[in-house]
Amino acid sequence: MERTLIIIKPDGVQRSLVGEVIARFERRGLRIAGLKLMHISRALAEEHYAEHKGKPFYEGTVRYMTSAPVVVMVLEGPNAIQAARQTMGKTHPLEAAPGTIRGDFGLDIARNLVHGSDKPETAEREIALYFKPEELVSYQRVTDAWLSE
Ligand SMILES: Nc1ncnc2c1ncn2[C@@H]1O[C@H](COP(=O)(O)OP(=O)(O)OP(=O)(O)O)[C@@H](O)[C@H]1O
Ligand SMILES: [Mg+2]
Repeated sequence: MERTLIIIKPDGVQRSLVGEVIARFERRGLRIAGLKLMHISRALAEEHYAEHKGKPFYEGTVRYMTSAPVVVMVLEGPNAIQAARQTMGKTHPLEAAPGTIRGDFGLDIARNLVHGSDKPETAEREIALYFKPEELVSYQRVTDAWLSE
């Protein structure tokens, strides 16, 4: 069982794609362990994207992520990190396959709708940035037994 941090970025919320995006992850089989609407502060965005500090797109990305509310969630399931990133599609929507979130709804790398953690260490760090431990809920769904052995 693995956990990943997903963000529906400001463009996803503004374009009323919250339900559509969540539905795709749900249909994939991933289980929601935490979910909230929030407005990311400049300090939090800088911490989240610290690995990109100094790159040409860093400032624009921080401004984009703080420009309007986002929906953040923790999803869990077997190989949740890889499964979620596959459902999202490649970073640039023009390279993302049709059928993925970015491939179906995006055009511009700077407005690519969703964020997903890229590896287990990143997921752990990012989940801690957005959620207190008590905000995450552990439970089973009746369908979980039908999603993996
Ligand atoms: N060349 C670029 N021009 C503009 N924005 C960019 C560029 N490269 C990355 N970004 C923005 O910074 C984010 C982080 O880039 P990263 O390389 O981590 O891609 P990613 O892991 O696919 O995306 P994310 O971390 O948001 O899930 C991208 O999702 C995008 O919003
Ligand atoms: Mg990334």
